[in-house]
Amino acid sequence: MTQFNRRAFLRAVGATGGAGAMLATMGALGLTPTAAAASRDAAFRAPRKGDFTLTGRAAAKVVVLGGGIAGLTTAYELGKAGYDCTILEARDRPGGRNFTVRGGDSTTDLYGNHQTARFSDGQYMNAGPARIAQWMITLDYCRELGVPIEVFTNVNADTYLYNESAGMTAPMRYRAAKADVFGYVTELLAKASDQGALDQALTAADRERLMEFLKDYGDLGNTLDYTGSSRRGYSVWPAAAGAPGVVNGDVPSASDIFASGVGRYFSFEFEFDQAMLMFQPVGGMDRIPHALAGAIGTHKVRTGCAVTRITDQAHGVSVTYTQGGRTRVLDADYCVAAMPPNILAKVPHNLGSDVQSALQAITPSSAAKIGLEYRSRWWETDHRIYGGITETDLDVTHIWHPSYGFHGERGLLIGYYNTGSRADSYAPLTPQEREARAVAAGVKIYGEKYRSELATSFSHHWRQFPYQEAAWHSTPGGPDHARYKPLNEPTGRVYFAGDWLSYMDAWQHGAFSSARKAVTALHQRVLA
Ligand code: ALA
Repeated sequence: MTQFNRRAFLRAVGATGGAGAMLATMGALGLTPTAAAASRDAAFRAPRKGDFTLTGRAAAKVVVLGGGIAGLTTAYELGKAGYDCTILEARDRPGGRNFTVRGGDSTTDLYGNHQTARFSDGQYMNAGPARIAQWMITLDYCRELGVPIEVFTNVNADTYLYNESAGMTAPMRYRAAKADVFGYVTELLAKASDQGALDQALTAADRERLMEFLKDYGDLGNTLDYTGSSRRGYSVWPAAAGAPGVVNGDVPSASDIFASGVGRYFSFEFEFDQAMLMFQPVGGMDRIPHALAGAIGTHKVRTGCAVTRITDQAHGVSVTYTQGGRTRVLDADYCVAAMPPNILAKVPHNLGSDVQSALQAITPSSAAKIGLEYRSRWWETDHRIYGGITETDLDVTHIWHPSYGFHGERGLLIGYYNTGSRADSYAPLTPQEREARAVAAGVKIYGEKYRSELATSFSHHWRQFPYQEAAWHSTPGGPDHARYKPLNEPTGRVYFAGDWLSYMDAWQHGAFSSARKAVTALHQRVLA
């Protein structure tokens, strides 16, 4: 249904059935959240002890490959019914891409760069996932596991927009950019309507309501001209009587504001996965994998175990792995492979060429972050920015202000969060070179304190990180394409799970929901 037909249809329903019928119909069309929509994933029924004790069947032994969110969730959920799960994790910690870097943490990338974070106590950087939308299953696991959460500020009127390639010589506050872009867009539309351009599309009553909306939304005067307003901010803030403040002047022309390209950043906050409010665990995103591992039993999460072969057999699965230079074999009734597809594709197996070509069709993507710890929170004191993201067309792309530790002594910015070729262009540099380049970009926006107050940095590049080699993946055709059938269904006794087999790739929600799908399928088979 097109947007317009849909609206006409809804109006017709509203006219005959009243508001209740209209709301129910909108729910059926997916336009409003109904109770059914909100609880769709609540349809997941976690395995229970009683599933076995009441039926006289026995839980199975399961080997889970990969201790990221999908692998941990698999073992956690199966464990509720008494399955004997062992997770093989190549690194020395659970979590996979859910990686929070604190002082003392070390990494070595595929280039051989070794870094040890020198962040001070209480400062951390979420190198991977860092924000959670309210509808995501991730929050249900935080609630269930007792992981406290706090607001993550994804959009902030006081952060900056800076497009150097458009000729901007100074950053612009988000709020000023919004006032100007929406001011001019509404002015143009209001004047077009006033001059009759919309007479064919809208009734007189519709045009009147549209005009009312545009004048309010764009802060237009009665002449329908946008001339700037206090929405742009103040150069002198309003205060006590006698100090009304000075509104930021120098309103750019419509032509200049469109040429600056600042409007391109506004739709971000309309996205289903990025709209405020968003959340983060208090103290770092890795509170989630640590809580999962604790609930599973940390002895069942074997770290330092790199999988080297998967053999599906008539009555079980044999997994070969190396641990501390030794080769070992783990036999189980079933296997859930929850490693990244690009890494799985390098592991010898007997699951057939359809599995292999499906794994190889899913391609790895790059993303990187640098954490910059500062001796002072100058962005709060000097710029009055408390959380949120500055958007740029520089190769650093996004600069994140911390949503924790407000008014503390020190603070940590994400000096770049970039993807694709921009991330790849930083990767071959030494950590010192990455820092210098990121700082030079930040100085253009924030001034010299971006350099002079810097205490230490740590950079992380997922494509160049062992056992991961990807920030996320591209699954051509979507996860339900026929090519991925041997991954979406079990191949022999091997199941697959990961965000890369979901419609929410690059989100923990995708990993949680994919793991739930594999758990449900495996449990039904064991109970059958
Ligand atoms: N989910 C990732 C993000 O929010 C891609 O940046």
